Amino acid sequence: MASSCHIFLIYLVLISTTFLVVASSANFSEQLAKTEAMHSANKMTHLHFYFHDIVSGKNPSVNIIFRGKNNLGTTVMIDDPLTQGTERGSKIVGRAQGMYALPTKTDAALLMVMNFCFLEGEFNGSTISILGRNPVFEKVREMPVVGGSGVFRFSRGYALAKTVRFNLRTGDAVVEYDVYVMHF
Ligand SMILES: *[C@@H]1O[C@H](CO)[C@@H](O)[C@H](O)[C@H]1NC(C)=O
Ligand SMILES: *[C@@H]1O[C@H](CO)[C@@H](O)[C@H](O)[C@H]1NC(C)=O
Repeated sequence: MASSCHIFLIYLVLISTTFLVVASSANFSEQLAKTEAMHSANKMTHLHFYFHDIVSGKNPSVNIIFRGKNNLGTTVMIDDPLTQGTERGSKIVGRAQGMYALPTKTDAALLMVMNFCFLEGEFNGSTISILGRNPVFEKVREMPVVGGSGVFRFSRGYALAKTVRFNLRTGDAVVEYDVYVMHF
């Protein structure tokens, strides 16, 4: 008797919370009128920098967090410096923070999920988010810019990546990035 009473109570609670959830999520978004900024012309910015994937040495910028069987699923977290020039000691303009993973057994095409976090001048504190496919042995790889923050709010665009140096023995790589973004 007591248990069927409990079940009924639980049923009532479930029903009422379901209604609450439906009621409060019915308007979880709203259409906004276009602001002045959205009517004005988009800005187009070209960024150029070098990405340093440092695997070797005492202070690597990458960490393998999972090694998949036959490499499938191997996942690497990165906090790579982005520099103005091609040398590692060149001025740091930002960091690439995120991860890449191998979602295929058949080719060396990485899934890149990362934020370019800028540290210089008008871009200091702003970010650009990349989500794309990176077939590392192709000369030029194109990846979509899926968004941004700060100066790069409402970003759309693309990044072109070219390997400048790759050390097969250590795994260290330097990649040149040209990023084209439209933003407000
Ligand atoms: C959702 O509706 C409630 C009640 O009408 C209102 O107070 C709230 O501002 C609305 N939220 C959005 C995001 O429109
Ligand atoms: C970037 O912003 C941070 C935090 O506001 C500040 O500490 C730093 O000095 C700034 N860097 C440059 C180069 O302006």
